[in-house]
Amino acid sequence: MKKKFYITTPIYYVNASPHIGHSYTTIAADTLSRSMRRALSEQNVWFLTGTDEHGQKIQKAAHAQGLSPQEFTDKVVVQFKDLWKKLNISYNDFIRTTEGRHTAFVQQALEKVNRSGDIYPAKYEGWYCVPCETFWTESQVPGHLCADCKRPVEKISETNYFFTLKKYQQWLIDYINGHPDFIRPEIRRNEVLSFLTLNELSDLCISRPKERLSWGIPVPFGPEHVTYVWFDALINYISAVGAFDKDGNYASPWWEEDVTVVHLIGKDILRQHAVYWPIMLHALGIRLPDTIFAHGWWMIDDSKMSKSLGNVVSPLDMADKFGIDVYRYFLLRDVPFGLDGNFSEEAIIKRFNGDLANDLGNLVYRTLTMIEKYYQGNIPEGAGASDAQGKKIEEKLKLLPVAVAARLNPGSDFNFSAALSAVWELINMANKYVEDTKPWNLAKTNKPEALKAFISLLVKVIRRVSEELSSFMPQTAALIEEQFGDHAVKKGKPLFPRIDTKKPQ
Ligand code: MSP
Repeated sequence: MKKKFYITTPIYYVNASPHIGHSYTTIAADTLSRSMRRALSEQNVWFLTGTDEHGQKIQKAAHAQGLSPQEFTDKVVVQFKDLWKKLNISYNDFIRTTEGRHTAFVQQALEKVNRSGDIYPAKYEGWYCVPCETFWTESQVPGHLCADCKRPVEKISETNYFFTLKKYQQWLIDYINGHPDFIRPEIRRNEVLSFLTLNELSDLCISRPKERLSWGIPVPFGPEHVTYVWFDALINYISAVGAFDKDGNYASPWWEEDVTVVHLIGKDILRQHAVYWPIMLHALGIRLPDTIFAHGWWMIDDSKMSKSLGNVVSPLDMADKFGIDVYRYFLLRDVPFGLDGNFSEEAIIKRFNGDLANDLGNLVYRTLTMIEKYYQGNIPEGAGASDAQGKKIEEKLKLLPVAVAARLNPGSDFNFSAALSAVWELINMANKYVEDTKPWNLAKTNKPEALKAFISLLVKVIRRVSEELSSFMPQTAALIEEQFGDHAVKKGKPLFPRIDTKKPQ
């Protein structure tokens, strides 16, 4: 494993409030950052998120509210920052594409690519989808409906700047073939490879005439144009952490060879990240990220949740209703990272009452109760387990950190769900141990050493579980740690009181 770790989320459009899809990527990135901070140390991990604030979508949304785009984005960005605070997102930096550090950098990048001959002006004629900010050719839009969102496209004819994607197509294919971890999971890597081998890339239109769109970064060598929002947005990953020196070489402590660079994205923006972005970096003479991981979608009744479909669920509502950590747990546990999942409150309640109340909450609560009852709240120091079941638990406990890390480390496909399953195997073994051992009998038959060993093993299990859960459920881990002090316990209310599904919510 490399010494340092740099992880990013997509920068989210601020044309509307954040929804659970946005919170999914961000919670996943937060969990990985926390886990890597434990593995590598705090100062060797950098976690970047932010907002994508230029483009036609934002300009329109601002206009609809009678605000300037800057006023509008200043307002919406607060909702994102507040949400991340509420969800305990431990980002190191938050970049807005309207910040000077970004706009100046994008202009330098454009100049550099232009100098090396990878940008040229040309007349463009074709179809354009405003909400997707995507150009289409005649054959791609039968019935003149956008190939992605199916809304009507507009015919346009204008002069623009183009970036030479086509020239680098073979280079990209070779690169992907030579780097199996570059696009993950496998299904997405295959999708990109087959797209690249079956189609000839068109060069990318990277400007918009100012008369049509003014809300963007001015093209430094083209006063009539602003930069296309994707060319601007992708650059955030490097503008936030580094700079060009006077010779035009990029330098950043988070983009050197000793850093594992990971971009987490949803599969909706795979093409931009797996095709445009590597070619942009290559043209800039900058190394590529190690992994672009595209996760699946949260669906509602089998359709993708999105602003345009109007079926958006608010992460704040969910966190308020069920608890922040319950929400975080549900998203990461219910669906293997990479696959699609169906979001529903019933599914959250099922996880809540099962995994959290019955399994984890019960183990913690019954252990606290026994320590109060048999030891007046003082945590006993027992010898190691002498029975087969206890020994098995000790073994499992020892192996747990490695089992969890193996599913979260770079190169692992970030299987949060499987990592949590490994934790739950231990929780379930411990609960079964309580049921099989019947500690009240040990107490009655006066086997003090056996009772001590038994309870102290449960405490060890809980401490280990809480340590492993700290990346996923930071608040819960902190609560458990408080309850199990150095020597004595502090029993509070149950962590996850069961939700009564018969009572009206
Ligand atoms: N601004 C661009 C990204 C630029 S990155 C250089 C953008 N923004 S977005 O606000 O539309 O956010 C898209 C991202 O939000 C997805 O890639 C994914 O991370 C997340 N999700 C949005 N809807 C989602 C679901 N329904 N399910 C899961 N995640 C999804 O695209």
